[in-house]
Order: sequence, then C-alpha cells, then structure tokens
Amino acid sequence: MREWSESVAFITGGGQGIGLGIARALAKRGVRLALADIDEAALARGREELSPVTPVETFHLDVRDRAAFAAVADRAEERLGHVGLLFNNAGIVPVAPVTELSYPKWDLALDVNLTGVINGVQTFLPRMLDRGAGGHLVNTASGAGLVADANVLYVTTKFAIVGLSESLRQALSGHGIDVSVLCPGPVDTGILQNTRAADPSVAVPDSALAATEAFLRGGASIDDVGEMVVAAMTARAMWIHTGDLIRPALQQRMAALLASI
Ligand SMILES: NC(=O)c1ccc[n+]([C@@H]2O[C@H](COP(=O)([O-])OP(=O)(O)OC[C@H]3O[C@@H](n4cnc5c(N)ncnc54)[C@H](O)[C@@H]3O)[C@@H](O)[C@H]2O)c1
Repeated sequence: MREWSESVAFITGGGQGIGLGIARALAKRGVRLALADIDEAALARGREELSPVTPVETFHLDVRDRAAFAAVADRAEERLGHVGLLFNNAGIVPVAPVTELSYPKWDLALDVNLTGVINGVQTFLPRMLDRGAGGHLVNTASGAGLVADANVLYVTTKFAIVGLSESLRQALSGHGIDVSVLCPGPVDTGILQNTRAADPSVAVPDSALAATEAFLRGGASIDDVGEMVVAAMTARAMWIHTGDLIRPALQQRMAALLASI
C-alpha cells in the first residue's frame, strides 16, 4: 500500500461504528478523510472529533444513490485530493424469519448491503485505474459471509461481498490496486438500533434484542477493529478478521465442502 500520509480515504458508513474506528486509525497516520453516511448527526460528531487530527470532509450520502455517489466523489476529490483508499463499509443487519421473507425485504438488504458496495467500486475504481497510481479497496462483509447461519437476507449479501472482493483482488492484481475484505465477528456498535431506525420490518425482534445486543457488546471495540484493518492493509492481507469465534464453524464448512467433492 502507498505512503499513508499521502493518501485520501473515502469511508461509507464513516459516521459511527466500524467506519469511525477505521477513520480514527487512519487519521492517526495522517490520512485525509472523506466520511459519507446517511446519518447527519453521526457525521457531525465524527467531523468534530477528527478535524483536529487530520483534514476531514463529511458528505450526506445514501450508498444506493448512484448519481449522488458520483457527485460526492467529485466534491471529495476537489477538496481533499484523489481518493486512493476506499472503504465500502456502510451496511445494516436485516433480519427476517424464512416464513416472513418478501420482495421489499430482499430489495432493502441487497440494495444497501450489496449494491451499495458495488456503487462504491463503480464510482471510484475507474478513477483509480485511469490515474494508474494504485490504491486499496476494503469491503466490509462479515463472518456471516464465510459461514452461513439461518438469516438468509444478511448471509446472502455478505457472501456476495466476499466473492466480489476475492474476484476483484484477482482482476486487479496487475493494476497495483489491493483488495481486502473485512469479515468482522461481533463488534460493539449500534447497528441493531440503526437497522431498526432504517426499516423496522427487518429489525431484530424484541424477543432477541437483549441477547443480540449483549453478543455485540462482548465483541471487539471499533478502535481495535480500525487498528486491525490498518495492520491487515499494511500486510496486504486478503481477509481481515476481528476474532476467532468463527474458526470451528469455518473448519467444519471447509471440511464438509472438500469432502463433498
Ligand atoms: N457490528 C458488528 O457486529 C458487525 C459484524 C459483522 C459485520 N458488520 C458490518 O460492518 C459494517 C458497519 O457496521 P457497524 O456495526 O459499524 O454499524 P453502524 O450502524 O454502527 O454503522 C453503519 C453505518 O452505515 C450507515 N448506513 C446505513 N445505511 C446506509 C446507506 N444506505 N447509505 C449510507 N450509509 C448508510 C449508518 O448510518 C451507520 O452510520 C456493516 O456493513 C455491517 O454489516 C458489523
């Protein structure tokens, strides 16, 4: 990866949670930051916190909106310089029992979690390729992108992000652009409440909320995740993990998959 202090990073979902943790880790290394989010209040807090450390610009952006994505990319590059580090991180955790799946729920899950990532790639990758100055893309998937559970909406989007990232890494290997995929285990963020606010029809049900919140609270902090991401980028790692909770399930999956051939 390139010299940190020369870089500009664009982070979707950068106002809070994992995106903010990544922003903090990059700010410490002198990276100039463009933070994009639908949550204006979170953006304002992030800007206030990080502006004393590094130049920060914030942009209201819904990652589903392609025209807005291009316009925000133009403004970010005018103000900060060329974006060389792209973090497609914005996401929600839509939940629906299999008996309550519907097209609107599928569309929401795919539009935010998958098309939002593709829109980031399609906005910035041609610019990076044209400039020929290299770069690094980091897409946020999940442990649920490596091992399935019964939440088909979330798992579908996150497996797709892992596949997209692995394929892009191969496709870009001759272009000086690295690709990594962040596959977090539980991270202590407000994603459950933020998803409920985005669309209550896909929120974790009240009966499971306390236990799921406790599970996330017991996970990594956003600052730890930010440092893990920077370390993994420096090492040009493909997969970035935030813990090893997933190991037994992944071993089981890989063994069963190989045995089935
Ligand atoms: N927290 C965890 O335990 C965990 C585990 C695995 C994966 N992840 C993934 O990490 C990523 C970040 O999640 P987080 O836990 O930091 O959640 P978070 O809710 O704290 O942060 C996500 C941010 O994305 C923003 N966002 C949501 N929809 C958006 C849209 N359409 N356009 C622009 N911004 C949008 C939200 O406003 C929020 O600021 C997500 O992709 C999530 O799936 C989180």
